[in-house]
Amino acid sequence: MMKKLAIGNDHTALEMKRELTEYLEAKGYEIVNVGTDEPVSFHYPISGYKAAKLVASGEVDGGIIICGTGLGISLAANKVNGIRCCVCSEPYTAKLSRQHNNSNMLAFGARVIGVEMAKMIVDAWLEAEFQGGRHQNRVDMIMEIEQTQDLKEAH
Ligand code: RB5
Repeated sequence: MMKKLAIGNDHTALEMKRELTEYLEAKGYEIVNVGTDEPVSFHYPISGYKAAKLVASGEVDGGIIICGTGLGISLAANKVNGIRCCVCSEPYTAKLSRQHNNSNMLAFGARVIGVEMAKMIVDAWLEAEFQGGRHQNRVDMIMEIEQTQDLKEAH
């Protein structure tokens, strides 16, 4: 159950970040803001990295990161060991990213979706639980690639 969340953004997502923070705080989530609040160009890897470090260290339960497309900021977050950040533009993928991939970070694009869709995606992601079982083996394989730059079963 995620209760404390990091939220990060670049300059494209100031308003979306603000509205989602309000939305989630009203639902009782604790939000740690690691994004920019200034309406000037901002390098998205900075907030993607900061949010990812908080998730990887266990200081927060999960992270939500937003840039124009969700792509750049998710790529940065996924470079931190232990992070599984998925870009989702609709709720089905967000739900499955938890159930099958045990995603611990969610990304989307403020230039791709509207804030009401973002709320539905966030709700689907937060409500879903990792299903384990056969999915655990596959997530373990992803983490093996991260840890060893190799995958035994691929040989
Ligand atoms: C900023 O113009 C844009 O490149 C950024 O928000 C993001 O979409 C990158 O992936």
